[in-house]
Amino acid sequence: SLIHFLSLFLYVMLGKDTTSFFYVLYPELPVSFVKNTVLSSLNGLGTLVENHLTIAVTIGTDMLELDCHITKDEQVVVSHDENLKRSTGVNVNISDLKYCELPPYLGKLDVTFQRACQCEGKDNRIPLLKEVFEAFPNTPINIDIKVNNNVLIKKVSELVKQYKREHITVWGNASYEIVEKCYKENSDIPILFSLQRVLLILGLFFTGLLPFVPIREQFFEIPMPSIILKLKEPDTVSRSQKFLIWLSDILLMRKALFDHLTARGIQVYIWVLNEEQEYKRAFDLGATGVMTDYPTKLKDFLHNFST
Ligand SMILES: *[C@@H]1O[C@H](CO)[C@@H](O)[C@H](O)[C@H]1NC(C)=O
Ligand SMILES: *[C@@H]1O[C@H](CO)[C@@H](O)[C@H](O)[C@H]1NC(C)=O
Repeated sequence: SLIHFLSLFLYVMLGKDTTSFFYVLYPELPVSFVKNTVLSSLNGLGTLVENHLTIAVTIGTDMLELDCHITKDEQVVVSHDENLKRSTGVNVNISDLKYCELPPYLGKLDVTFQRACQCEGKDNRIPLLKEVFEAFPNTPINIDIKVNNNVLIKKVSELVKQYKREHITVWGNASYEIVEKCYKENSDIPILFSLQRVLLILGLFFTGLLPFVPIREQFFEIPMPSIILKLKEPDTVSRSQKFLIWLSDILLMRKALFDHLTARGIQVYIWVLNEEQEYKRAFDLGATGVMTDYPTKLKDFLHNFST
């Protein structure tokens, strides 16, 4: 196909360092993407791994996103926050405790994708990354390295290797330093664009130089700036803030940019969209996928969108 030809062309043009082959190797790109909020059901993964998260997958979650931390005894756990006050009610930091000392999650967990359903789990342990890998051996997972910690990066890499998940894992962080460390630790695992690199890509795009620059990253994940207005009270946003949001929306939401990146095998995701018209805008712009708190809604939308 044209995309395969294009990526091969770019590969030859730009040399070994491009990621153009990614698309060829993984033509079945995931279409939807679940953000932590759904996976804050991951907050209770102990039970939810068995039940609800599996549901999340079968109702069409094509990729899971989760955040990793490391305990004092060097176990990789899945948790949104380092401090456990919000999720367990106990004011402790994960890195200060051994895995067996971590408090359990609070009894009830909101599961946003099941219409006002609160799920009560018996097993409210904070899950290990390894358990998620075991529960979802074939589901692509996006791992946010939440702390700049070499041991955490090393351990995650070892787990990905052990479970042979290099081809369905992507990892990184907004911080350039962390992404560099990830890449150095294991260059077989695809990486995210750090914030710094997103800005560089934008600069290269607007100066027309982007086609000539090799890219190592495979996942371009950016927010849709216009949704910020929706999240705030209208009268708390000043005119200049509105202008900045409008401007960054115009700069970031470029079909030509997304098309260029996807043709080079880079997956483009936009977060966190929950409304149909936002989904539509993202896919019209050529995004590979959308992160949402409502995977069922997104799935329904995609069903109609593609027919
Ligand atoms: C958790 O870590 C943060 C940042 O290092 C620190 O400010 C805070 O006091 C710690 N909390 C506890 C309960 O140890
Ligand atoms: C990236 O890492 C920093 C710590 O270096 C952390 O505060 C931040 O939440 C992380 N961001 C993401 C998106 O994981």
